[in-house]
Amino acid sequence: MRRFLLLYATQQGQAKAIAEEICEQAAARGFSADLHCISESHKYNLKTETAPLVVVVSTTGTGDPPDTARKFVKEIQDKTLPADFLAHLRYGLLGLGDSEYTYFCNGGKIIDRRLQELGARHFYDTGHADDCVGLELVVEPWIDGLWAALTKHFMSRRGKEDMGGAPATAAHTSLRTDPVKPEVLHVESQIELLRLDDSEGRGSQASEQDTANSDQTGALVEDFEPSLTCSGPPLSQASLSIPALPPGYLQVCLQEPLAQEESQACVTSGDSVFQVPISKAVQLTMNDAVKTTLLLELDISKTAFSCRPGDAFHVVCPNSDMEVQSLLQRLQLMDRREHHVLLEMKADTRKKGAALPQHIPERSSLQSILTWCLEIRAVPKKAFLRALVDCTSDGAQKRRLQELCSKQGAADYNRFVRDARVSLVDLLHAFPTCRPPLSLLLEHLPKLQPRPYSCASSSLFHPGKLHFVFNIVEFLSYTPAVVLRKGVCTGWLATLAASLLQPAAHVSPADSGTALAPQIFISPRATNSFRLPDDPAVPVIMVGPGTGVAPFIGFLQHREKLQEQHPDRIFGAMWLFFGCRHKDRDYLFRDELRRFLKHGVLTHLKVSFSRDAPVGEETAPAKYVQDNLRLHAKQVARILLQENGSIYVCGDAKNMAKDVNDTLVEIISKEAGVEKLEAMKTLAALKEEKRYLQDIWS
Ligand code: 2AM
Repeated sequence: MRRFLLLYATQQGQAKAIAEEICEQAAARGFSADLHCISESHKYNLKTETAPLVVVVSTTGTGDPPDTARKFVKEIQDKTLPADFLAHLRYGLLGLGDSEYTYFCNGGKIIDRRLQELGARHFYDTGHADDCVGLELVVEPWIDGLWAALTKHFMSRRGKEDMGGAPATAAHTSLRTDPVKPEVLHVESQIELLRLDDSEGRGSQASEQDTANSDQTGALVEDFEPSLTCSGPPLSQASLSIPALPPGYLQVCLQEPLAQEESQACVTSGDSVFQVPISKAVQLTMNDAVKTTLLLELDISKTAFSCRPGDAFHVVCPNSDMEVQSLLQRLQLMDRREHHVLLEMKADTRKKGAALPQHIPERSSLQSILTWCLEIRAVPKKAFLRALVDCTSDGAQKRRLQELCSKQGAADYNRFVRDARVSLVDLLHAFPTCRPPLSLLLEHLPKLQPRPYSCASSSLFHPGKLHFVFNIVEFLSYTPAVVLRKGVCTGWLATLAASLLQPAAHVSPADSGTALAPQIFISPRATNSFRLPDDPAVPVIMVGPGTGVAPFIGFLQHREKLQEQHPDRIFGAMWLFFGCRHKDRDYLFRDELRRFLKHGVLTHLKVSFSRDAPVGEETAPAKYVQDNLRLHAKQVARILLQENGSIYVCGDAKNMAKDVNDTLVEIISKEAGVEKLEAMKTLAALKEEKRYLQDIWS
């Protein structure tokens, strides 16, 4: 049997699902895959492994391998390993990532690079799949090409054995070295190219605010209409270098509405989901600020829910009622919105590996499913567009859809669909003859994810209450007409909070009635290590511009209470580097921060105003938080390198966290008098020791 070792490093299950698909296909093709999670190192041994290795690795955080790969990465990064440690090993690697993030596919790249350094060689070229445009664009052809590469590998090895050689081992490594070049690599390089193009325009896209302000987006969509009317015959499948669309596998039956007690609500309060009232809402920004930031207080006193400063929790949110109605109307299902949905797998088109979507509950109404279970705002992936082609009757519209999901149309897809944040409803407006069956929507619309928020309070300071902070996401949408849209969750929360809103001055603890308060559903999130050090004497540096300051308010409230309760204890220094645009418009928690400073809880407050002229007592000549870090480089280095202190960074991953990281490298290098590479290693060691912690998002 042609055996290969198959490892997956997964964070949310995608790498695992892909590895399982490889495993299943392997059996059908006469291979035997020895499948393991990469963390199960007691079950395999790369040093003695003579079979080829196939690895599927996803990426998490700011370009880290998943948590399950931590031990593996640490082991292969052992500096004492000789350069030929894995010289006997032949491997193929599939990296998963999202080009919206700075370090695309970095989880896979880290492992790939290190395996090479240890002498291992590819028997098959690395694939980098991009979740932003659809993992399947690379994953499917990469898997298709894997079998030929494996076959070639085994044949070359047998050839060696037939010629009297032993199976490839550390001593016999002259296997083929030229990589197999399957079609997939064209798809990949196309995506790589697009990513490069795309990065030039990063400043004007993607972030909520930038999208809202961008004139450029309007111009893009003006082009959209004429391009829709393009005539000519539909492209044949052969002219599109993409895999054929997978057959629909779901069968949907809409049944008469169930009696209320029989139908299942999509969200029910249970062990891990809590229904809680919003007891207070405060607008933290002035009306002339670029973004509106709200603080909401939840009354959790009647629940078992708890959240410590530094933790995050989930808010379960619904889609906008208006958008759900609009989708139902477009699908001509308005009159059946109360019907309940029965899902089955289609027997004749049973897609290998496909399963009923877990996130669609049985015995729920169509309206409830569209409201609570499916991300109807999600930008349709190319696989979805491909499936929509067959549901479109007009030739020109069909052709345009085909173009958008073809390799040649990749740039258009990025401009007109991905960057313009087109949703399914927008798409159905733009392609009026497209009439997808409900089953297709249920197959392709992703799960409506609960949204994570950082806890911005301490239960010592606000017993029975939980605070969180967010910017109301707003952006302009151009299809079918120009409208201002709000984020699914933040828009909904803002509407709920409207009746409770107080000006920023009321942020001090105060009780308010909760009898008529709007209710929301929350659930805990896996605990993390973004916590204050156990020993309060340890000095800490907190870096949190904008709403990134939220967890630090919790830290400071907690510390204030501890200091009150234990006046004899020694408490370490607390530095906060905060940044906002304007001192008078979006200086979040200004009064509370000044109070912490006055009470000696916060020992140093360094605030940067990115769009104000530098004046005033707290205003250093710094634009961004990292400029202030640089101005206090000596103290920062002393805390981290001599006083065993910790640094916490919270906020935007794409720009801020990366720039702060680079600044820390620069500071360590300068203050410790070491090369940049050495400084990077020091920072990596701090991360490893959990003294450099990040809570960042894109
Ligand atoms: P700007 O939008 O004026 O450029 C909170 O959003 C603050 O973070 C704002 O003052 C914003 O500044 C700032 N910010 C933007 N990009 C940043 C970066 N790369 N590093 C640090 N702060 C940044």
